[in-house]
Amino acid sequence: MTRPLIVANWKMNPPTESSALGLARDIERGVAPFRSVAVVIAPPFPFLAAVRRVLKRTHLGAQNVFPAPGSASTGEVSPAMLRDLRVRYVIIGHSERRRVLGESDEIINQKLKACLKARLVPILAIGEALPDSQAVVPTVLFQQLSGALRGISKRELRGAVVAYEPVWAIGTGQADTPDNATRRAIYIRKLLTRLVGRRIADTIRVLYGGSVTAKNAAAFFNRDIRGMEGLLVGGASLRPAEFIQIVASVARCWEPHR
Ligand code: PGA
Repeated sequence: MTRPLIVANWKMNPPTESSALGLARDIERGVAPFRSVAVVIAPPFPFLAAVRRVLKRTHLGAQNVFPAPGSASTGEVSPAMLRDLRVRYVIIGHSERRRVLGESDEIINQKLKACLKARLVPILAIGEALPDSQAVVPTVLFQQLSGALRGISKRELRGAVVAYEPVWAIGTGQADTPDNATRRAIYIRKLLTRLVGRRIADTIRVLYGGSVTAKNAAAFFNRDIRGMEGLLVGGASLRPAEFIQIVASVARCWEPHR
């Protein structure tokens, strides 16, 4: 079984480089003992270079990337620039970008292709908008996933990451139930098997995101079935003590005899 992956999505926080450095140092130090869990920190672009310098066992992630080749793209950041900063993971298709910036499945597809070409690991975020639309969730997930993966060769997707984030659970304090999240993980893996074949689908990690806290984190993991294999954490990743507790609790349930 692959070890769980826990991603700190700092969004547009914190406000200064020195606070970003403090946060990164605290997290790096705090999660160091928990080797059974892989940890990614995704700071805003301006802090990537500084944060990189303090990370040793934690990986660096970016929150976005721009897919157009060439240099005439004012205000954007290319996959090559991220590679140069030793970024390894890139969050693509976060609902805040889909909603606020109108990112379509088509642009998300282009971003995914650009990431894979640059050998960056995409963390593709998908999820339904409303809690009362459970009946349409399978359709929404299928559309988002098949739209994002269109035209990409199966082989390229080896080791990619998909994050299931019900939009209604993001930043609301209303996390999905672990049972439901497990069902979604199983369904997403079924879709992946259909879209890219079993062999590659088996290498793709599925994460849960949406109001993850130190209290609920471990409940999303289940050693007996292949459900969620990681977490995408927003708000709680800005509170180092809580984020470290999240990593510790997942490590404990992953390695119960620690
Ligand atoms: P949250 O954010 O943990 O604050 O709900 C998750 C995310 O947006 O990735």
